[in-house]
Amino acid sequence: MTTPPADTVADTAPAAGPAALELADVRKVYGAGDTEIVAVDHATLRVGDGEIVALLGPSGSGKTTLLSIAGGLLSATQGRVVVGGEDITGHSAAELTDFRRSKVGFVFQSVNLVPFLTAEENLLVVSELSGARGGARKQAKARAKELLGELGLAHRAGNLPAQLSGGERQRVAIGRALFNGPALVLFDEPTSALDTKIGEQVMELIQAEMRSRHTAAVIVTHDTRMTHYADRTVRIVDGVLGAEPVEGDLAAH
Ligand SMILES: Nc1ncnc2c1ncn2[C@@H]1O[C@H](COP(=O)(O)OP(=O)(O)O)[C@@H](O)[C@H]1O
Ligand SMILES: [Mg+2]
Repeated sequence: MTTPPADTVADTAPAAGPAALELADVRKVYGAGDTEIVAVDHATLRVGDGEIVALLGPSGSGKTTLLSIAGGLLSATQGRVVVGGEDITGHSAAELTDFRRSKVGFVFQSVNLVPFLTAEENLLVVSELSGARGGARKQAKARAKELLGELGLAHRAGNLPAQLSGGERQRVAIGRALFNGPALVLFDEPTSALDTKIGEQVMELIQAEMRSRHTAAVIVTHDTRMTHYADRTVRIVDGVLGAEPVEGDLAAH
């Protein structure tokens, strides 16, 4: 038997298999005293390797805060954060920078591409920041071309963001987030600036890319139409995580 007896496994042990993300009792408080806001409270969440989780909640419920903590952009007031096996809870600013470059990808609501760089150069920003030179730089260029091709953007590689449609810009952002082969990609309302049809195409693309790379994702949304692209939906209300909502019960949002 390779399975240990049940009594040697801690209660808090995650389900079988490695986790892309583990949040344990995370709390985030903004401000102090009278202006104190508890944005996230007692958040415990495990995202398995390759799992796609939708995080669904109304505006102001703490979605962006939770995502920022998971990606090491923001530190938690309390609790533990482990991404792709790396415990980032006590990381210094320099360690967090390294961590963000290697382990996570971000795709934001408003596409934050560098406006004066082409689609291809926007993908290469990641490796340029890591100081790639010579052969590594050549490899990075080839990889950028390959990724853009996969995303259906080969013919747009030399275009500036302003010359791309909203859906194309979001695809470039997805390419950039995937560039370093992260364990986890964090999406903050990736389709909210797109019309429904393009939004659905982008969600299909996100789903296909995550599946083919066996990469985990947390996709923040306030739109129930987007949750069926995920394996599982976690709801957040007033900073507190809950179980999957009954189909359509947040339809008003
Ligand atoms: N930097 C900040 N300083 C103070 N309060 C903040 C800050 N960022 C967010 N908040 C507050 O925290 C709560 C959660 O915000 P946020 O995580 O942005 O929610 P969501 O992404 O679900 O709209 C809100 O009440 C918001 O006003
Ligand atoms: Mg938000």
